[in-house]
Amino acid sequence: MIILGIETSCDETAAAVVDDSRTGGNRIRSNVVLSQLDAHRPYGGVVPEIAARAHVEAVDEIVAEAMRDAGLDFGDLDGVAVTGGPGLIGGVMVGVMTAKAIAYAHQLPFIAVNHLEAHALTVRLTGDADGGDIPFPYLLLLVSGGHCQLLCVEGVGKYTRLGTTVDDALGEAFDKSAKMLGLGYPGGPALERCAAAGDDQRFPLPRPMLKREGCHFSFSGLKTKVRQTIEALPPGDLKDQDVADLCASFQRAAGDVLADRCGNGIDMFLGLYPEGGPLVVAGGVAANQYLRRRLKDLCDRRGIRLAAPPPALCTDNGAMVAWAGLERLRNGDTEHLDFKPRPRWPLDPDAEPVAYAGAKA
Ligand code: KG4
Ligand code: ZN
Repeated sequence: MIILGIETSCDETAAAVVDDSRTGGNRIRSNVVLSQLDAHRPYGGVVPEIAARAHVEAVDEIVAEAMRDAGLDFGDLDGVAVTGGPGLIGGVMVGVMTAKAIAYAHQLPFIAVNHLEAHALTVRLTGDADGGDIPFPYLLLLVSGGHCQLLCVEGVGKYTRLGTTVDDALGEAFDKSAKMLGLGYPGGPALERCAAAGDDQRFPLPRPMLKREGCHFSFSGLKTKVRQTIEALPPGDLKDQDVADLCASFQRAAGDVLADRCGNGIDMFLGLYPEGGPLVVAGGVAANQYLRRRLKDLCDRRGIRLAAPPPALCTDNGAMVAWAGLERLRNGDTEHLDFKPRPRWPLDPDAEPVAYAGAKA
């Protein structure tokens, strides 16, 4: 089965072709990602209207490039998948209209993919570090710019949410802290680079939710303390060493929180599935090597496997959308061309509402 996937829900215009007759990461026949970094940099974050317009300008050429790289014509495809939500709705609409047009013109199945499900299933596209398959069920830590959740992944479209953030997503805390430290946008990767030269013990930062029951998250207190710490430093330009130390201290606090919450998540997961399964980490923040090491230590202590997509497939891309579309099409799960883009689309619609969690639950 060969599927084209299109992703336009945030600040990446991306398209890819995946083919399940091959194995491991080799299933990716093409993968083109255009980041809109320069368009948003002057504003220090993603501006939805600018993002939508940039997607309109780029999407046709990005799709054409993905098809050229794959050496295929639209007629060779078995279906067209696109992120149908959740995300910045203007951008999602651009991708959905493009995918519908291709599906209609070439009489192909149209598959609307939940962006979170695309992150959730990426490890099944790439396999584990040895290229081995990742069967259901598994425990998923989904950490991105908009979400921070622990979920049991029981099958395609089958999720049980165990925990979620009650305020900020972890990627958001990285981005906002990086902005306060003058590291610009996008903040996550910049903060990780800077932390490498820092002393992670220098600044005492809070570890919200540590040792609490369950596996919900909270990151807004950590972000606020970063601001207060900056304000308590001598006035004037921040020194490079101060910035590096604060980045390292932030990252360590985030690592402590993730390890603690995922430890409880593992207990809850094993309560539901005593036969076990790996911990999978996915979403943009999963590209962070320090946090991956912390999660690997936890998994080694608990005697379970850690699996993660390669860093380039943690951040938004078309291959993950194509793969999730492929898994859904295999189950006969397609949409009609009257599908409406969804600004909100929880993976587990039956999850208990969490106080204060708002749209990120
Ligand atoms: O999954 P993603 O590309 O988009 C969303 O679906 O949100 O995730 C983007 C988020 C941003 O907050 C970005 O700063 C963060 O992932 N991120 C990182 C790293 N790379 C990307 N955070 C920490 N360390 C990184 N290396
Ligand atoms: Zn994403």
